[in-house]
Amino acid sequence: MTEQHREIDVLLDEQRTFEPSADFVAAAHVGDRGPYDEAGRDREAYWEAWARRLDWFTPWDTVLEWDPPFSKWFVGGTLNAAYNCLDRHLQARGSKTALIWEGEPGDVRRYTYRELHEEVCRFANALKGLGVGKGDRVAIYLPMVPEAAVAMLACARIGAPHSVVFGGFSPQSLRDRIEDAHATCVITADGGYRRGGIIPLKASTDAAIEGLDYVNSVVVVRRSAVTDPRAAPHGDAVDTPSCDMTAGRDHWYHDLIAAADADFPAEPMDSEDLLYILYTSGTTGKPKGVMHTTGGYMTHVTATAKWVFDLREDDIYWCTADVGWVTGHSYIVYGPLSNGATVVMYEGSPDWPDRGRFWELCERYAVTVFYTAPTAIRAFMRWGDDWPAGYDLSALRLLGTVGEPINPEAWVWYDRHIGGGRCPIVDTWWQTETGGIMITPLPGAITTKPGTATVPFPGIEAAILDEEGNPAESGYLAITSPWPGMLRGVWGDEERYRETYWSKWPDIYFPGDGARVDEDGYYWIMGRVDDVLNVAGHRIGTMEVESALVDHGAVAEAAVVGRSDEIKGQAVAAFVSVVEGTETSEALRQELRGHVAAQIGAIARPADLIFAAELPKTRSGKIMRRLLRDVAEGRALGDTTTLADPAVVRSLQQQFADSEA
Ligand code: WT7
Repeated sequence: MTEQHREIDVLLDEQRTFEPSADFVAAAHVGDRGPYDEAGRDREAYWEAWARRLDWFTPWDTVLEWDPPFSKWFVGGTLNAAYNCLDRHLQARGSKTALIWEGEPGDVRRYTYRELHEEVCRFANALKGLGVGKGDRVAIYLPMVPEAAVAMLACARIGAPHSVVFGGFSPQSLRDRIEDAHATCVITADGGYRRGGIIPLKASTDAAIEGLDYVNSVVVVRRSAVTDPRAAPHGDAVDTPSCDMTAGRDHWYHDLIAAADADFPAEPMDSEDLLYILYTSGTTGKPKGVMHTTGGYMTHVTATAKWVFDLREDDIYWCTADVGWVTGHSYIVYGPLSNGATVVMYEGSPDWPDRGRFWELCERYAVTVFYTAPTAIRAFMRWGDDWPAGYDLSALRLLGTVGEPINPEAWVWYDRHIGGGRCPIVDTWWQTETGGIMITPLPGAITTKPGTATVPFPGIEAAILDEEGNPAESGYLAITSPWPGMLRGVWGDEERYRETYWSKWPDIYFPGDGARVDEDGYYWIMGRVDDVLNVAGHRIGTMEVESALVDHGAVAEAAVVGRSDEIKGQAVAAFVSVVEGTETSEALRQELRGHVAAQIGAIARPADLIFAAELPKTRSGKIMRRLLRDVAEGRALGDTTTLADPAVVRSLQQQFADSEA
């Protein structure tokens, strides 16, 4: 047993010392199984009680209509998500800080709830002036700047579903998403800071929308000109030339805001009106547009943000995700703001200007609740204990993780070096599709163990099932009843919705993860069981990468698998056969890796790219990915009896070994 494992064993026996707030104790009945039992007895009444904590313009008639696989929550009710995040706090918390934002160069902006409300109203008026109305889709392609939250909330205020596209995605990926949703307006920035450089988002937007004449307006946030040296204490911001503006189509955000009226009544939205579309990777080449509606989603994220993070009035809450992912939607914007929390937002990289940047932020803003991804924790571990040790992290009282399984070593390090051994860690399992957290400890109520997300949130019903749908100790994770934040469909593709999530077992949701349950009934999530990779907490479809590769003229055939990676959890390994007459070379290898990055985004760039004379196939011509995974992991091959030509994979192994050498 290693030292690390001994430490983990000690922790397993140790009850976290955590004193939940009185409000939390009262509400969550900490100390007994209160909310779990309550939700178990009457799930709909339990969720209804949460929904009542939101502000509705008109109440609902029915809590749930379940017509599998379609659910409707709080049917007949009307509300507005932005109203719930802003307006309803104005009286009690108008001058409370809603948002503390720090740019990578060190510039800082703060918004009170009143200021954020005003900015959102102005921007909603501006968008309306550009012709954006209820139901129109708006693409948001922004760096991590306050305007990203403002833009989302302004869309919600109008009732125009947003489609946020991660700023690290390529022009082609942005174009695909704009086209699929038929977005008529794009909100972007002239740039965003990343490791001291500027990512030219507007130039990418111009490329993305070329020839799409239904995109009739582009709003551009001016980000790249940080001229005041006091606003850039790290000294790495320069006044760069901005970007091209197309007259009639492109508008500066600051010009629109200055001219816009500060009064914009929030549009009453039906509980089941679309709040947003968010694209995520699946098993086919084309990302799917996951649809989230208003009432159920807001109920789910409000409840989970409140209980999982035990949000208190004086908390300084920081989730390090990007708003381009669902974590940013639910736990930077909608969940925390609906709870009236103070949210920290940071634009840049954790290692800029040095590897202490996150801890410097935690110290400066006295962050109390910190939510990040295991991949980041593993990187911090590798960077060394001295970085966090150099900062005062004593304000922290609660830590969270999301995005992938957390290995116990990383959990223990997080506990010791960030949490100072004082903070409970909430390992939260959920997905873009679930809208909000599904499996998680409630701090103080559920004893945690390193490596497990523990139990379903009260009101969520899960199980581990085998292929046939029988309960199993180890098998597939399943969600056995509808929940308020569940996706309502895949934009424009009902068949794909049914097929992907509801075809494995009748009326039971299949998330695509393997899991096992332990003697305490805790869920251990084992990772994806489909052709979806999780690279540094980001979902990447193997087919997407394969399509990007075969799009290159030199590539005849490509197969992509995931291999384990110490920091990123998984890394992309690509096997490529080239068209006849093409010479393989190191230059071509780099070109192809770059091609994938240009096609999809840097997150999809293959870590390994192995040229194969042929790909291993079964006699019926199916590529045997299982064997490719063995090769990429550098381990002994599994069963090869169905292989058409065993020599093919042996030669691949040799090439892989050579490329590693
Ligand atoms: C997939 C969903 C939910 C926001 C971030 C990712 C994996 C997520 C955990 C966790 C083990 C996890 C699953 C899931 N995952 N959280 N706590 N433990 N695995 O959202 O991009 O939709 O990815 O991330 O495999 O299916 P996403």
